[in-house]
Amino acid sequence: MCGIVGYIGHREAYPIVLKGLQRLEYRGYDSAGIALYDGEELKMCKTKGKVADLKNKFEEEVTTNGTVGIGHTRWATHGEPNDVNSHPHYSNSGDLVIIHNGIIENYDSLKKELKKRGYTFKSDTDTEVLVNLIEDVIINEKVKLGKAVQIALNQTIGAYAIAVFNKTKPDEIVVARLGSPLAIGVGEDEFFVASDASPFLEFTNNAIYLEDGEMAVIRRDKDVKVRKIHDDSLVDPYVQELQMNLEQIEKGGYEHFMLKEIHEQPNAISDTYRGRMLVDQGIIRMAGVDDNMERIANAKRIIIVACGTSWHAGLVAEYIFEDIARIPVEVEYASEFRYRNPVISENDVVISISQSGETADTMAAIKLAKEKGAFTFGVCNVVGSSISRETHAGAYTHAGPEIGVASTKAFTTQITVLTLMALKLGKFKGTISHSDFQFHLQELERIPEKVKEALKSDELIQEIAAKYKDAPNCLYLGRGYNFPVALEGALKLKEISYIHAEGYPAAEMKHGPIALIDEQMPVVVIATKKGHYEKVVSNIQEIKSRKGKIIGIVTKGDEEVRDLADYVIEVPETLESLTPLLTTIPLQLLSYHIAVLLGKNVDQPRNLAKSVTVE
Ligand code: AGP
Ligand code: GLU
Repeated sequence: MCGIVGYIGHREAYPIVLKGLQRLEYRGYDSAGIALYDGEELKMCKTKGKVADLKNKFEEEVTTNGTVGIGHTRWATHGEPNDVNSHPHYSNSGDLVIIHNGIIENYDSLKKELKKRGYTFKSDTDTEVLVNLIEDVIINEKVKLGKAVQIALNQTIGAYAIAVFNKTKPDEIVVARLGSPLAIGVGEDEFFVASDASPFLEFTNNAIYLEDGEMAVIRRDKDVKVRKIHDDSLVDPYVQELQMNLEQIEKGGYEHFMLKEIHEQPNAISDTYRGRMLVDQGIIRMAGVDDNMERIANAKRIIIVACGTSWHAGLVAEYIFEDIARIPVEVEYASEFRYRNPVISENDVVISISQSGETADTMAAIKLAKEKGAFTFGVCNVVGSSISRETHAGAYTHAGPEIGVASTKAFTTQITVLTLMALKLGKFKGTISHSDFQFHLQELERIPEKVKEALKSDELIQEIAAKYKDAPNCLYLGRGYNFPVALEGALKLKEISYIHAEGYPAAEMKHGPIALIDEQMPVVVIATKKGHYEKVVSNIQEIKSRKGKIIGIVTKGDEEVRDLADYVIEVPETLESLTPLLTTIPLQLLSYHIAVLLGKNVDQPRNLAKSVTVE
């Protein structure tokens, strides 16, 4: 999710807010906007595109200035990236204006209720619903903005960092956060609001970081009153003196974007199923699937087209779809599929997986599938991207912008979306029992915490990285659901440390690759308890007998592999079909630490681009 910036004080707000948005550009976005109060009127300018586009448009259209303003860089979740859906958003009266990072899951039901009360909407966003809900509370409860925000937020489900301004009460800004970050910069008779401290660090290093479930009323020249949203109780704000520099703030305190994004995966996964997976009701809601259920569920075959890491996610999906929804699946490199004159019919469903939504080969494969009459479905991380607009339907991952060239949270959120899709299809077709379906939902809801658990092995992984960083080659082995994870682990190591690595199905070793094994060869073996465990243990013994160095990725508490391997890295137990969401974590960290120790450019590895928009 992208960026929010606000200012209230004695200085002109526009240059501060604009520069603040520029500071937040590193977070990736698709549109931007600013609203200012000039003492009489609210002035707003917003546009699809870059902050530079906003600057040009604003300075053409807005001639007044003011000392209070808010700005936003958007990473769309509801509503295509365009001028109308950009933030800020007005309430119907035009008195209120809001900016928002996050997702209001129940926006649809709230919107329907507000429409019944006569509210109209210009945009497709969930955010415009929130600002009108706040207005509705002000009108009906006859309360001030702060209280109205508190009441309104208690009616919402979702994630938010918001800033709201009421032009009839121009000496305050109200902010709140749940699930998205929000910092308040405390200056001399002036206050700043932002997603992180980078927009206000040059003005003050005194900051209040709101906790989840907190809100604040920021009064010009006065004070900041922090409260709990759920019960309105006062919170004594902790003003901390920041020691971080700008670059450290952009990376959230991590050394690289890749490491930050590895650690963002618990939130990215929960954001991806947020609003779609209703565990208590045993429901999965995915509009792209719901609206096309017959066509997809009755497919003769599902063909998955993708590249790189996304292709590995497709391989995981093959196991999931065939296992749970009993639909035949083929996974193809998009670059091969597009040129081999494939046999495709209107009974086929072609799913494209692409983080960027701009990969040329994947786009070409989708176009070919459409020409041949197949139904196409896109899994993308960028709303409004080319591939997402080309496919007949789709489902977005909500990983947020992925800056590091090496895909990490894109991979785990793609698997999350595809798992939800397979479960939904399996339930519709009756190929999964209700109890198994329900258990999958309950276990998927526990995955973010289990990913956090897996991330705790970082110190051990750093030790392993130091030991094997100079190996010229490395093998990655896995079986079943974890065969694609072995391929993904090898790709991660290759692309950021430039060490040659290969992934194989563990049972393939005896068909040739075992000739490579000697005491110089580190072999990473994914040997979790679920799925052919004993067979993988046999594979490990074959490697050990040839003096290979073994790094086992095992289920927590495993003793058998521990006795055989040189190192074991534990991940929590989970369903076999969900193990890729956990076993990939140590492999991401291993490749990251090896690359750092080798002094490689982790976020921008040589020869690579984040999105391959050429053939
Ligand atoms: C993976 O770490 C690489 N960044 C690369 O393989 C990537 O997955 C591939 O280029 C596909 O990109 P896409 O998901 O944006 O289509
Ligand atoms: N859900 C809101 C929208 O789609 C906010 C997205 C964001 O975090 O930028 O407009």
